[in-house]
Amino acid sequence: MFDRFNRHINYLRISVTDRCNLRCTYCMPEEGIHLLSHKDILTFDEIKNFTEAAVANGVTKVRITGGEPLVRKGITTLVRMISDIKGINDLSMTTNGVLLKQYADELRLAGLHRVNISLDTLDPEEFRAITRTGNINEVFEGIKAAKNAGLLPVKINCVVKESKEEEEAKAVTRFCKDNGLEIRYIKQMDLVNGHFSMVDGGTGGDCSLCNRLRLTANGKLKPCLFNNIEFDIREIGFEKAIKLAVELKPECGSKNETDTFYNIGG
Ligand code: 5AD
Ligand code: SF4
Repeated sequence: MFDRFNRHINYLRISVTDRCNLRCTYCMPEEGIHLLSHKDILTFDEIKNFTEAAVANGVTKVRITGGEPLVRKGITTLVRMISDIKGINDLSMTTNGVLLKQYADELRLAGLHRVNISLDTLDPEEFRAITRTGNINEVFEGIKAAKNAGLLPVKINCVVKESKEEEEAKAVTRFCKDNGLEIRYIKQMDLVNGHFSMVDGGTGGDCSLCNRLRLTANGKLKPCLFNNIEFDIREIGFEKAIKLAVELKPECGSKNETDTFYNIGG
């Protein structure tokens, strides 16, 4: 599919839950969050059928996100349902890594190709401060498990305040070099005020090259992370939602007052 600006739209990011087992300060408010009710969350069949429609329209690359995708019950079954779709040549997941020790082998067997794992620091106390609840050793074990399971290349998402020259980021860089991991630096974003920039080492944040559509856990198809435009796939149907999202994909991001990182997955 090509949009009005001749961008080739072939990448679908699917948020499978708005729940998470961490509470990162840049992602969730301290007071807690308003969670979607069960009936609003797309079923596995809806996600599979929608993905099939997207692939029939030219999507070849799919990423599973959240919230934290591994807290969705039966996630490996869903991965299998998606990996069975013919025409996806890159199937990845973005995860905080906490549950990967438990799931890495099953995910690989279910047909997942690779994972991106979030890690902003190597310091256990700093990690606890960022995530409000997390134990960094679980992430280290998850990274190892992903490598052993062959979910390659394992990429690390490192959120930085301003630059990759910050001490925390430099330590993560060294850790990645020593452990055969690829790293991408993501400057902390602000959806409401429209602050975003290019991902260093990745493809995100460059509007002129953006090839993405996003599906939220409650079935809204969004052509741009930094825009409120969305199409409800249950209300208007898969084909129409895909057509409209591509047709109306904005040239460049601005602001998004509707979404949060925990519902849309970045
Ligand atoms: N700015 C940048 N990245 C963010 N993420 C979550 N919130 C933000 C934010 N405000 C990232 C996480 C993870 C991915 C799911 O999104 O660090 O890598
Ligand atoms: Fe969870 Fe990721 Fe948000 Fe952290 S950034 S709270 S790991 S969804």
